Amino acid sequence: MPSILAIESSCDETAASICRDGKILSNFIANQLVHEKYGGVVPELASRAHMQNIVPVVEAALQEAGCTIDQVDAIAFTQSPGLIGSLLVGSQFAKSLALSLDKPLIAVHHMQAHVLANLIEDPKPDFPFLCLTVSGGHTQIVLCESPIKMKVIGETIDDAAGEAFDKSAKLLGLPYPGGPLIDRYAKSGNPDRFKFPEPQIPALNFSFSGVKTSILYFLQNAGTSNIYKPEFHATEEERNAFIKNNLPDICASIQHRIVSILMNKLVKASKETGINNVCIAGGVSANSGLRNALEETGKKQGWKTHIPAFEYCTDNAAMIAITGYYKFQQGDFVELSVNSSARAEWDEQ
Ligand code: KG4
Ligand code: ZN
Repeated sequence: MPSILAIESSCDETAASICRDGKILSNFIANQLVHEKYGGVVPELASRAHMQNIVPVVEAALQEAGCTIDQVDAIAFTQSPGLIGSLLVGSQFAKSLALSLDKPLIAVHHMQAHVLANLIEDPKPDFPFLCLTVSGGHTQIVLCESPIKMKVIGETIDDAAGEAFDKSAKLLGLPYPGGPLIDRYAKSGNPDRFKFPEPQIPALNFSFSGVKTSILYFLQNAGTSNIYKPEFHATEEERNAFIKNNLPDICASIQHRIVSILMNKLVKASKETGINNVCIAGGVSANSGLRNALEETGKKQGWKTHIPAFEYCTDNAAMIAITGYYKFQQGDFVELSVNSSARAEWDEQ
């Protein structure tokens, strides 16, 4: 019955979780509100906030699990990818604990952990499954043969889906992170009112930069066109009035296009691989439009679909803990000298 303490600090959330024998006993997160006024995550401020938060967050996770630090059998931490300063705070803390307690250390890939968030609760998806992993930094289709054997079969060639949501929200004057706000306004909007182009990208890859540019022109033109036409440019006042009067429809239309780009590639991936177990993961899988589209498309295509609980979709340490649990079973430990890495390829998994 191994107990794993897991630490996640790859971006702007400091999180800790305890998992015992594959069951999550606690899942604690400290959000960093300091970034909101800058319209994005400021790396130096994120590292400082992690340093302030990490001790209380780990203590809270232990307390909630009713577990003492001596009862922990291994320490898991996010090694990559992420902001290097943020990753280093978590990894140094994990290494110090592993050294002082003389416990094994487990290095976890953040994107693998997002996929395995699907295995936290019952019923779990059957293997093999496809997972659309959509976050602020990544958009991937992953073919998952087992908890430790997975392969990226498609990914974005430019922006991530979360970035597409956040950058669109910024153009609308909404605060960071704008994805959840677009989701909220979209609920009362008409998704068919405004049309944004669907990019034609080969294979199972994605692109969002063209959609983003068309949204930029659309807003510059106060909704009259989504192509670049300087003669259509509206005044700032006209633009702001257009956004204010049409926000739900604009948000619903943007969300509709981002979700349809994702779902069309997922359908293609299922047809090409013959795999009908389909999951989603990552922060954008909290999006209600994407969750509904997965259910609807799943019914049409005869898929068995799976979505992690809301709290396991956005960044959290429970997903690091469950990945740590499977790695513990493999004896997949690392030395204290292991380096953190801002970028790391999936081929290493
Ligand atoms: O996985 P995550 O928490 O952090 C990364 O690893 O990037 O994902 C964060 C991303 C942000 O871009 C955020 O706007 C997006 O997930 N997000 C959403 C929603 N909730 C979070 N996007 C659209 N709709 C949501 N409900
Ligand atoms: Zn993430």
